[in-house]
Amino acid sequence: MSARRPLVAGNWKMNGMPDAIGELRATMAGAGDARCDVLVCPPFPLVADFAREAGEGAVGIGAQDCHPEEKGAHTGDVSASLLAAIGARAVILGHSERRADHGEDDALVRAKAEAALGAGLLPIVCVGETEAQRDAGEAEATVLGQLDGSLPDDAGVVVAYEPVWAIGTGRVPGTDDIAAMHAAIRKALVARHGEAGQGIRILYGGSVKPGNAAEIFAIDDVDGGLIGGASLKADDFLGIVAAA
Ligand code: PGA
Repeated sequence: MSARRPLVAGNWKMNGMPDAIGELRATMAGAGDARCDVLVCPPFPLVADFAREAGEGAVGIGAQDCHPEEKGAHTGDVSASLLAAIGARAVILGHSERRADHGEDDALVRAKAEAALGAGLLPIVCVGETEAQRDAGEAEATVLGQLDGSLPDDAGVVVAYEPVWAIGTGRVPGTDDIAAMHAAIRKALVARHGEAGQGIRILYGGSVKPGNAAEIFAIDDVDGGLIGGASLKADDFLGIVAAA
């Protein structure tokens, strides 16, 4: 057992209308005595209302991206400081969908993580290999390279390992593969941050469901999960929170 408190974060992606606040309320009702940290990350326009609803309670609200700069001429972007001002506690950064859809590279993800830290937000920095990279035997090198380029020097972050081929597919790596990757990430974090690297939480993400969460969360150095599809319904999400 590690001293790290597990974190289960729901990534709603581009899902949820204003009435989905009902799912947040149900999550809050069921997560009151959770023995892990719980985050719900809805689309930007819902963050303020959700944060007001969640208050200082056990469920925190996060966003799914931010801009590296604090303000300025960046049409359509949102700053970390605005997110913090409206009550967000965390922000997901460098998700593979943003790396693919918006061409985000490691340097940009790192700049965003630094902005998030500066605003007092917890950055959840995502890394993960594609199926082609895994098949070519390059999974670990890919992930460690992303980690090296995307992480700020400050150890106040969370890392999410999400194999791209496991996201939204119902496919999950074997427990040995998850264990090996999380151990490699831990080693890299300790090499970079010293003892502080032991305190950084490493989440697994990619097709985590209520039925497989307990097995995944029992793996060494898996400190919780980043949950997509199964975070949209409070019942499923709470089943995963219970497993942590
Ligand atoms: P999934 O998504 O749980 O739907 O596979 C995870 C993620 O992309 O964060």
